[in-house]
Amino acid sequence: MRIGLVSAMHQELAAVLDRMPDEQRQRAAGRDFWVGHWHGHEVVAVLSRVGKVAAATTAVVLIERFGVDRIVFTGTAGGLGDGVRVGDLVLAREFLQHDIDASPLFPRFEVPLTGRARFPTDAELSGALTATARAVLAAPADTLGADVVAEFGLQAPRVHEGLIVSGDRFVATTPESAALRRALPDALAVEMEGAAVAQVCHDYGLPFAALRTISDRADDAAHVDFMRFIDQVASRYSAAVLEAYFGSL
Ligand code: ADE
Repeated sequence: MRIGLVSAMHQELAAVLDRMPDEQRQRAAGRDFWVGHWHGHEVVAVLSRVGKVAAATTAVVLIERFGVDRIVFTGTAGGLGDGVRVGDLVLAREFLQHDIDASPLFPRFEVPLTGRARFPTDAELSGALTATARAVLAAPADTLGADVVAEFGLQAPRVHEGLIVSGDRFVATTPESAALRRALPDALAVEMEGAAVAQVCHDYGLPFAALRTISDRADDAAHVDFMRFIDQVASRYSAAVLEAYFGSL
């Protein structure tokens, strides 16, 4: 098994690299790919950067050049679904690009010439990560520390599973998030990369899973410091879930 771990932000990659004792840097496609081990399992960790094209490029290089046989994406997302709150974790069961629209030639959201709008994630890999996410969230203070739990109000975080939507926009206004909810009522969360990686992995027949920590509600409500949230909460949750996952293999 050789697993590709993709993060969109530097802090998240740093938390992954902290757990890899022996990583070696290799340059490709303008990126650093970190090849090493986590709990004895072969890992290639990489920063995708932000957006669908950056994520798709990263996924293709991981597959073609580094020979990974599965990909896990970790990061943050804006909550859309009822009850999807800041500090919750979402495991994607399927992805859709909310900003693709070739109508009237093809139905809105359908990726032209694929016949589909929704790209599923791998059931087994996602299920295993859901189980570890539940275990981590059962005691958030063990991962984050009691002070961080109190600072961000994360007393009873939940794990959700379902549709995540992706697009090349940071959704940060109430009208835009309301429009997304109306158009895609079952969407749990919105981010900027997952659907691209899901489509690439679908094309290659490669298992893919994505774990996102909810950092905001994708609206114009005043919000905690986003970078501090990534550093103190999201990166730590991702690393803890992956640590438990690798430990269980
Ligand atoms: N990632 C985290 N929050 C997001 C949001 N509101 N929109 C898009 N991507 C995000």
